Amino acid sequence: MTRGRLITLEGGDGAGKTSQAGWVRDLIRAQGVSLLETHEPGGTPLAETIREWVLSPAGDPPEAMAELLLVFAARRQHWVQRIGPALESGIWVLCDRFVDSTYAYQGAGRGLPIAWIAMLEHWVLGSAGRPDLTLYFDTPVDLALDRVRQRGRLNRMEREGLDWHERVRSGYQSRLEADPGRFIRIEGGLPPEKIRAMIEAALTPRFRAWASGDLPQDPSR
Ligand code: TMP
Repeated sequence: MTRGRLITLEGGDGAGKTSQAGWVRDLIRAQGVSLLETHEPGGTPLAETIREWVLSPAGDPPEAMAELLLVFAARRQHWVQRIGPALESGIWVLCDRFVDSTYAYQGAGRGLPIAWIAMLEHWVLGSAGRPDLTLYFDTPVDLALDRVRQRGRLNRMEREGLDWHERVRSGYQSRLEADPGRFIRIEGGLPPEKIRAMIEAALTPRFRAWASGDLPQDPSR
């Protein structure tokens, strides 16, 4: 059984990734593969409860390290119950946010040591958790935050200031620079039809190469 592909969507709050998820899904489905669509934090009943704890501005918010441990607890549950088994049975997975969000938000945003995140990543996912492909929606922070404010009902991360969101953006930039072959950078400030064209132009050759076996699934596996 060939392992399914793990494709993730990443970007700051209001970057535009979720609005394009349906389009990415259609392009994947056109490959004739089975697809699990999911998101983080969340994706299982327990992980959705943890999502509430992490993101709700009400109640007793977790401090930074507790927040990090909570997102990884949710991720472990999601990985073991849903993502891992799907990939093992050949199903492709499209996940709206994954580990790169933790590096950007808890690492660059909260200022927690990257080494802690790398250790937890290894502990929770082993070597199998590296996405095959990540679409990173890169959007100027002022534009992204305008979008967020228009949506109303801001979560704990969205309530943070401009500097914090700039740090998250630079955290993503570091991830991209460290692993350029995995990332496709999408300019999230462009009009939707231009974004779609960019996504299609980036995914089509990648899917073709995967189908013909031109690219190893993941040289590190
Ligand atoms: P979303 O519904 O737009 O995906 O929002 C989820 C929020 O959770 C977003 O503000 C980023 C945050 N988040 C983290 O802080 N760490 C993580 O590991 C993940 C997956 C998300």
